[in-house]
Order: sequence, then C-alpha cells, then structure tokens
Amino acid sequence: MSREQLIEMAKNNMAHARAGTIPQTDDIYKVPVEKYFDKDRWQEEMNKVFRRMPLMLAMTAEMREIGDYKAMDVGGYPVLLSRTDSGEVKAFVNMCSHRGAQLMDEGCGNTTKFTCPYHAWTYSRSGQLAGIYSPKDFGDIDRSEYGLTELPCLEKAGLIWVTLDPKSTLDIELFLSGYDELLEHFGFENWYHFDSQRVEGPNWKIAYDGYMDLYHLPILHKNTFGADFPNQAIYYSWGPHQRVAGPSRGSEGMEAKPEEEWPTEHLIAGVWTIFPHISIAGFDGGGRAVMLSQLFPGETPDTSYTIQNYLMEKPPETEEAAKAARDQLDFLRYVVQEEDYATGIKLGKALATRAKDYVIFGRNEEGGHNFHRWVDTILETDDEDLPKLFQTG
Ligand code: FES
Ligand SMILES: [Fe+2]
Repeated sequence: MSREQLIEMAKNNMAHARAGTIPQTDDIYKVPVEKYFDKDRWQEEMNKVFRRMPLMLAMTAEMREIGDYKAMDVGGYPVLLSRTDSGEVKAFVNMCSHRGAQLMDEGCGNTTKFTCPYHAWTYSRSGQLAGIYSPKDFGDIDRSEYGLTELPCLEKAGLIWVTLDPKSTLDIELFLSGYDELLEHFGFENWYHFDSQRVEGPNWKIAYDGYMDLYHLPILHKNTFGADFPNQAIYYSWGPHQRVAGPSRGSEGMEAKPEEEWPTEHLIAGVWTIFPHISIAGFDGGGRAVMLSQLFPGETPDTSYTIQNYLMEKPPETEEAAKAARDQLDFLRYVVQEEDYATGIKLGKALATRAKDYVIFGRNEEGGHNFHRWVDTILETDDEDLPKLFQTG
C-alpha cells in the first residue's frame, strides 16, 4: 500500500516535470512577524508543541543492542532512553526518584543498570528501582513505587519517538498519520550511524521553514550545492508531516520500465520532514546516506540547535569511503551553519524590528503554509481533543 503511494507520487512528479508545472496553493499565506519572536507565543509553542507532540529523539542505529542507552537534553528536558532486556526501547525522565539527580550524563553507552551519581541508588534497564544505598539507615519504602518516570515511546521505521509528558495519552502511531509506513521504505533499522554534530541556529521556526524550502536552493546555496538545483517543490502531507520532492528528480529513465522495477531509492528521493522538528535528506558521501537533522529550540525564542546525524546504508568499507562520509558531514555543517542558519539569524533580527507586519509564503511554498497552520492549530487545541487532529481515516 505504501509503495503504491510512492509510485503515485513519482508519477505525479514526472507529470509535473513533463508539463513544466508545480502544484500551487490558491493564495499566498501571511505569517505575522511576532509569531517568530514574541516570548509568550514562543513559551506556548514550548508547552503545547514540544511538550505535547511526540519528538523523534533517537535512531535505532544508535542503540541497537540490549543495554544500550542514550541520555539527552531536549530543550532543557532530561531524557533517558534504554534498550531493555526484552529488546524494546523505553523512555524515562533522566531523574532519580530519591532527590532528583540526573542519572546518566548526556551521550550513548551500554549498561546493565543505571546508577545515580549522587547516592548510588540503582535502576534496572526497564526503570525499576533495584537498589538503595544503606537501606537500613534510609528507612523502609515500597520500591515498586519509586521506579523511573516513564515517557510514552514508540520505535518504528528505525526511529524512536518520545512524548515529553508522562501523562500524555496521545497515541504516537496515530500522530504519525501513516507517514511511518512511508519512512519504512528507507530501512533505517539496518542502517549505520556514522557520526553526529551540533550546529547553533536561529528561532526554531525560522530554521524549520528552511528545511521545507526548495525555492532558495539555487540562490542562497549557489556557491555550494544549489547552482544546478531546480527551485520547484511538490509537497505531500500525512497529518502535519511533509515530504518535499522536485518535479523531475529521480524520474530519469524510470518511466520506460515497469513500475515494479522502479528503484525504491528513487521513489524516496527528496526531503522528508517529521513534524515538528526533523528533516531527512538523501546524500551520497561514502555510499548511500541521509542527513537526519534534529532541530531543538534553544533557551530563548531567537535560538535553536540542531543535531546533524549522518546515517549510512552500510558502514564505509574503505578509508576512502570513510573520508568521503566525513567530508560530506563537514560540508553539511558549513552549508547549514554559514548559509542557512547565518541567514536565519540575521533574518530573525530584521523581523524583530517590526518594520513589516507579516512575512509571506508564496503559492509555491505550500510547506510553509501547512507547517504554520499546524503549529497554530495545535496551540488552539486542548489536550483531550488532540487525537481528533490526527484521525485522518
Ligand atoms: S538523588 Fe539519586 S540516589 Fe540520591
Ligand atoms: Fe538551505
């Protein structure tokens, strides 16, 4: 079923390529400038988007083995992911039940148990309180009541989503709106995590706008990779999640062959964004690879940071291939830091002058229309009504 969707999209992309057209929205779309810098608005986005929506926090490739864990700070919220003895991934608040110390330092590793650095209480891989230091002195407690606080978590398509609200009842699969089935065609569960790096950026929405924008490629990126890129985009959405493809990309020579033979890697070309903060873009450095970018808000409305993860279909087999992967990673840091985010940081300062009331997204920039509408809708929706937003049928 999902392959049929990929074929339909490929046909649509080819038809647009032949006709020299792209789909256009009915109208341009205006976003009031203060939505990019107003502190109250930003705080609401933190509370209602980043604390209520599932976030894609880790890749299976980072924690494939039993006992593997990943500790991370998600915009100030400490999270601990653990591959438990049964092989499933659980997510917890990275916080000891005694007096609240963070159990594990940021990073990945493998462990038989989690030991608190403050008074050495220990927890199993699945979060139960296993040991108390000097238990006789401490006094009796019912250990079953003092496990780690679990967060909703789902591993799907080689990616791991977590909701930063222990009480959330929003079904993560429902939120994914069927998009996960498309993402499964990458086969990320068997891919190799080459390396990750951090890039500082502008306001999170300014940064995210750029990931869905092909209009700027031949202009802003003319000195790096964009000179030969078409600036046209076709958007496909599943709930708030959007794939962006070019009208012609990946279609050359394919049409003559029967559909069953159309290669999957062509069918999944383009940029796959996962609302509200992920972009997956295909590259070829050291072998078939993607840059999976995880965007997180910073401490203030005008800052964000991005973890750029380089995922490869196979580990590089030669030193040359490893060097090519490293060069690709360096190159992508340069492009994002010096071109996209440098522009975004200055753009943010310009918006804050309030010299204009609105920014505008053209009829060719549907991705921006959809993204900003979804953020607005989520802010307006109460917890109990959230599932209705994603019941696409
Ligand atoms: S805070 Fe963790 S053992 Fe005391
Ligand atoms: Fe860009």
